[in-house]
Amino acid sequence: MEKIRAAITGVHGWVPDYVLTNEQLEKMVDTTDEWITTRTGIKERRILREKGLGSSDMGAKAVEGLLKKTGIKPEEIDLLICPTVTPDYAFPATANIISYKTGLTNAWSFDINAACSGFIFSLKTAIQFIENGTYKKVIVVGSEKMSMVTDYTDRANCILFGDAAAAILLEPTTEETGIMDSIMRVDGSGLKYLLQKGGGSVKPASRETVDQGEHFMYQEGQAVFKVAVIGMADISVEIMERNNLKSEDIAWLVPHQANLRIIDATARRMGLKKEQVMVNIERYGNTTSATIPLCLWEWESQLKKGDNLILSAFGSGFTWGAIWVKWAYNNK
Ligand code: UT7
Repeated sequence: MEKIRAAITGVHGWVPDYVLTNEQLEKMVDTTDEWITTRTGIKERRILREKGLGSSDMGAKAVEGLLKKTGIKPEEIDLLICPTVTPDYAFPATANIISYKTGLTNAWSFDINAACSGFIFSLKTAIQFIENGTYKKVIVVGSEKMSMVTDYTDRANCILFGDAAAAILLEPTTEETGIMDSIMRVDGSGLKYLLQKGGGSVKPASRETVDQGEHFMYQEGQAVFKVAVIGMADISVEIMERNNLKSEDIAWLVPHQANLRIIDATARRMGLKKEQVMVNIERYGNTTSATIPLCLWEWESQLKKGDNLILSAFGSGFTWGAIWVKWAYNNK
């Protein structure tokens, strides 16, 4: 029997119109464009400012665009997975709300919480349903309203994050394309370095959690940087080595966009040139589970069937991983 693989057959992104620049941040906190640019690579980020809109609204826009461009009817979708750490509500799942808003009447859906590794953890989950023949059409949509957990008086964090959503469609193929290999890792001892302290079952929302700013993200940046830079590079090299992929075999590294210095270090360890690396952090900042599909969307027209892509991420948890994708189509 021919092996069935899961192939990415479409990608679409959506970002809010409002642009928050480094120059604007200079007026809000004690920082400079020069500091932000040299330490992170970020110049601006998008913010969903309209009241009453959440991650599902951005996710729905990305899914609507994906369905339109691929010509797939909403009722054909079997499953939708939404990686997010900024859900509309603690429950129900944002995935269900996106499915409802986009008319996916025959799909079931759920969220995955793996922070900045959310997209690759979700992709790894989604492909199981395709590879075992259960489903024919699965959507993964990363959607994050990071501005909701960002303290705009905290200069160490508010410069980093932005809001966005991006979705991919997965379908079966018997060709030598699609998701070829993957490695996923977690280390729960990383909890203390990057988390939202308040609002969960350990520290339910209270006057005190609000006063202490514990509904915002807490990050010990330098500690996270040290493990992220090693973790992302190691796992990207590991997936290359175990598949005998040399640097010249890789068309693109598609890295999580947390910090340009982490991306550059990963690319260096993989022996890649700058031209082989997707980077749009300067325009969107860190959009958590949306970064990788957002890159795929922006680079889609340059991708060719058979191109080897390494998707790689590191995030809160700690969570990290890498996926080898053989691109399945030429520019549509
Ligand atoms: O995506 C999920 C995983 N997250 C990450 O991968 C993020 C990893 N961490 C990072 O990207 C970096 O650690 C940051 C960009 C967050 C910070 O960069 P850094 O080079 O590690 O700076 P630092 O935290 O060591 O701070 C250096 C100095 C400090 O001042 P002192 O103590 O040396 O006087 C900070 O107070 O820079 C100061 N600083 C700032 N200065 C101007 C911190 N934030 C700012 C700022 N503007 N925005």
